[in-house]
Amino acid sequence: MKELNVAVVGAGIYGINHVNAYTWNPNTNLVAVCDLNKEITDKIAQEYNVKTYNDVNEMLDQEEIDAVSIATPDAFHMEPALAAIRHGKPILVEKPLATSSEDAKKIIDEAEKYKVRVAVDYHKRWDPAAINVRNELQNPETGAPIRGYMSMDDIIDVPAKWFNWADKSSPVHFLGTHCYDQIRWYMGCEVEEVYAVGTKKVLKSRGVDTYDSIQAILKMENGCYWTVENSWILPEGFAKNNDGRTQILCEDAMFRIDSQNRGVEMFNTQKQRTPNSYFILNNCGRPSGFGIEPINDFVYCLQNDIPFIADGNDGLQAELIAEAVHQSLEENKAVKIKRD
Ligand SMILES: NC(=O)c1ccc[n+]([C@@H]2O[C@H](COP(=O)([O-])OP(=O)(O)OC[C@H]3O[C@@H](n4cnc5c(N)ncnc54)[C@H](O)[C@@H]3O)[C@@H](O)[C@H]2O)c1
Repeated sequence: MKELNVAVVGAGIYGINHVNAYTWNPNTNLVAVCDLNKEITDKIAQEYNVKTYNDVNEMLDQEEIDAVSIATPDAFHMEPALAAIRHGKPILVEKPLATSSEDAKKIIDEAEKYKVRVAVDYHKRWDPAAINVRNELQNPETGAPIRGYMSMDDIIDVPAKWFNWADKSSPVHFLGTHCYDQIRWYMGCEVEEVYAVGTKKVLKSRGVDTYDSIQAILKMENGCYWTVENSWILPEGFAKNNDGRTQILCEDAMFRIDSQNRGVEMFNTQKQRTPNSYFILNNCGRPSGFGIEPINDFVYCLQNDIPFIADGNDGLQAELIAEAVHQSLEENKAVKIKRD
């Protein structure tokens, strides 16, 4: 099978996982990496012996590229996405597809026009625990789902120290869209209406104008109600960078997932850690885990011309929910999801 020539745009904290995945994937040839930050591209050029660029159009004009990964900050996916699409390249966009449904639709419409495909990296769809529960939900003996709960939180360092763009995103865009996507995928239907409450206090006092925490109730087409909680202010001392739980009550079954303590505990003189041994691992230099799988799967789907596990429409649907949650927070009332 022909190797795919791939490129990565945005090589920060998460984009480097795309660079590592493509470096190791036997079916890809990483031809170029683009980042606005020259310090980053200089380091990557040296460490990975790959061509680097600081302008996405220049890279797309000069290199023979078959597919592009986009891992720029949440609110800045559209520009490189449209550039790649207009050069006829299929794209894998980090979640969320965009931070407005308008931008998400623009990406999808442009991709249709240029006849290229869009995948979105909702990596929770590759989490073995989630796959297991989703399969069980499809077992007729489980009965209909009645109520669901999902939480996903980050330690405060994520918005306050890791990024300088947290005020242009929110726990809803950054974390909530993961939950909304996963809930749609579990339920096999869409969200009809949302109601949300939230607090802006701690991050605002640190100069980051976004929500600390948001709780949203989602009414699903199948009659199931979900509560989704997302926060960006877990204390720095927490045993992991993030926390997460799921509980689903069905007519004849109940499921629980603890995404925080997955069975490995590490202790040193300062703190206890509970790393996620399934997410992204370095196995003698080789990247593996369910954080890497969607990147390899993008390549597999392109090479075999099969549908993506999470595509542009999934990205749009998660964003429509995120937008409605923000609207509900601002207007203090239930908001119906608007689909044209
Ligand atoms: N950090 C995480 O844990 C995590 C996990 C999963 C997904 N993601 C997603 O990955 C994306 C990137 O997040 P991150 O944590 O790597 O952020 P980051 O700030 O560490 O990296 C973003 C990089 O994109 C570069 N960039 C910005 N605009 C660009 C442009 N137009 N062209 C080229 N480069 C550009 C920046 O210079 C920066 O190096 C986000 O959408 C995020 O939600 C992050």
